[in-house]
Amino acid sequence: MCGIVGYVGGQQAAPLLLEGLGRLEHRGYDSAGVAVLGPGKESRLRVAKKAGRVRDLVDQVPKRFAGKVGIGHTRWATHGPANDANAHPHVDTKGDVAVVHNGIIDNAAALRAGLAEAGVELLSDTDTEVLAHLIGLSEADTLEGKVAEALGRVEGTYGLAVLHAAYPDRIVVARNGSPLIIGIGDHEMFVASDLAALVRYTTRVAHLDDGELATLTADGFSTYRLDLTSVTRSAIDLEIDADAYDAGEHDSFMHKEMLEQPESAERMLRGRLDERFGTSHLGGLHMDARELRAIRRVKVLGCGSAYYVGQMGAGLIEELARIPADAEAASEFRYRNPIVEPDTLYVAVSQSGETIDTLLAVQEIRRKGGKVVGLVNVVGSAIARECDGGIYLHAGPEVAVASTKALTNMFLGFALLALQLGRVRDLSIADGRRLVSGLQRLPEQIGEVLAQEPALAELAGRLAGAESLFFVGRVRGYPVAREGAQKFKEISYRHAEAYQTSELKHGPLALIDDSVPTVAVVPEDELTERNVAALHEVAARRGPLVVVTHPAVELGDLPSQASVDRIDVPRNERELDPILMTVALQLLSYHAALALGHDIDKPRNLAKSVTVE
Ligand code: G6P
Repeated sequence: MCGIVGYVGGQQAAPLLLEGLGRLEHRGYDSAGVAVLGPGKESRLRVAKKAGRVRDLVDQVPKRFAGKVGIGHTRWATHGPANDANAHPHVDTKGDVAVVHNGIIDNAAALRAGLAEAGVELLSDTDTEVLAHLIGLSEADTLEGKVAEALGRVEGTYGLAVLHAAYPDRIVVARNGSPLIIGIGDHEMFVASDLAALVRYTTRVAHLDDGELATLTADGFSTYRLDLTSVTRSAIDLEIDADAYDAGEHDSFMHKEMLEQPESAERMLRGRLDERFGTSHLGGLHMDARELRAIRRVKVLGCGSAYYVGQMGAGLIEELARIPADAEAASEFRYRNPIVEPDTLYVAVSQSGETIDTLLAVQEIRRKGGKVVGLVNVVGSAIARECDGGIYLHAGPEVAVASTKALTNMFLGFALLALQLGRVRDLSIADGRRLVSGLQRLPEQIGEVLAQEPALAELAGRLAGAESLFFVGRVRGYPVAREGAQKFKEISYRHAEAYQTSELKHGPLALIDDSVPTVAVVPEDELTERNVAALHEVAARRGPLVVVTHPAVELGDLPSQASVDRIDVPRNERELDPILMTVALQLLSYHAALALGHDIDKPRNLAKSVTVE
């Protein structure tokens, strides 16, 4: 979703800003723009902005676009369509102030009306433009004062960067509910909404808290609250490999990230498994055995893929710890006045740690006195900071919109949590050890699934022709089917619907014919026979089948004319099998999308992290 970059220092800003915007493309956007402050005392603001891709903007930026301080933006339309006028930066009437903004100003309509009444001509349909005017009209005698005064009149969420021609040595930034990271260089400073735009230049960063402002000049930064009293935000050095943000020899980040899974799964488990006692070490939870024992219920919250893996996780917790557990879409939770209980453990799942629906759900729970732990990939992100404790995912940066390696590590995080919750209750040491050893085998087995890529590619090429598909599974297999359908629809744009296999005969069977394939998750477990029986019902109606299963599973005598493909994945422990099947489905979706010629990393209408409601 919308991205922000900013630069102040000794270099020309525009090329750096455009490069940074290119690195934010994966967040999803429909227009882009940059503003720089020209050199000299009579500093002039120059703005270029355009609907379309960053490369369209690059063509539009004039050669003479000099300035060593500047801001840039990729916009995802919320208020008003994607066109040049609505693209950021937005400028005040005099052309002194430029603003880029992520988030939503809730009282924009009232503020726009007030400005119009005062004779201000509004040039766009956006909520952001009001900020440019409010800052331009402010009589405060510092830029920080002007920004703070404008923000005092605004309700809503923002990540914000502001330039002002009268203050050509600085960028003022502010944060409230939208991500913003300050990057510290050598006599130069950066700001961005996502690390991806910074890591080429610096890995020394500082985070702002909600309700805080910062001034960036070439020589450093200072931070304040909205009332301009100063706060100290210290810089931290991140251990990040900038190459993680390059796809290298892969055609897409999704491909690269899928193939990284054995390694990133290994990283997730490192130091966290206890073979001796058949349990896990999770220091970041900040909970001792007594507190873990006191938990009576677990509620998992996430959005999109994080929600589906949350459903796998709730199943694991219920099965291993015998604690009632369920998953809910974080986007729905907050709006139904949820009952928050003191002995429930809430688990927020998010790759980015910035998804607004998940963040707001966490805040609602905390407001009501509930305890929340996070399963988050991005260190220091809003959700990570908001939680009482957590398990970092160590997947490394994930750039593709479709989550693969982070999702796998979310599953592992749940397995570790379930193991620990189980071992302080009735899970035997033998079962604990069985699962520890299963987890140790997983990274290699994920590699074995990935090694089947050529066969899966061939199969996916055939599946890509279908307009509509079902993904089905039961109990542990159902969230696998849901996540499989999610991936398929996200990147191939085919209609893929998930169902419980047991529910097929209660409705969807009416749609089955030879044009509607069913992708069935059929592990070798206590439900195999029932699952196989359902496959026969599909085949009897000439429905093509793709069965994700284990080598020992026999599918019986299916009608001779039936189209049946099977994907055999290695077996682990039955509780952990879902993730191996999920990886197989990732490859299937990826190759279907590739066969259809889609832009894998930037699926239409979707964003990597959705930071507005
Ligand atoms: C967006 C993405 C999904 C992702 C979801 C949650 O909707 O398109 O692919 O699963 O956000 O993201 P998070 O960063 O919270 O895991």
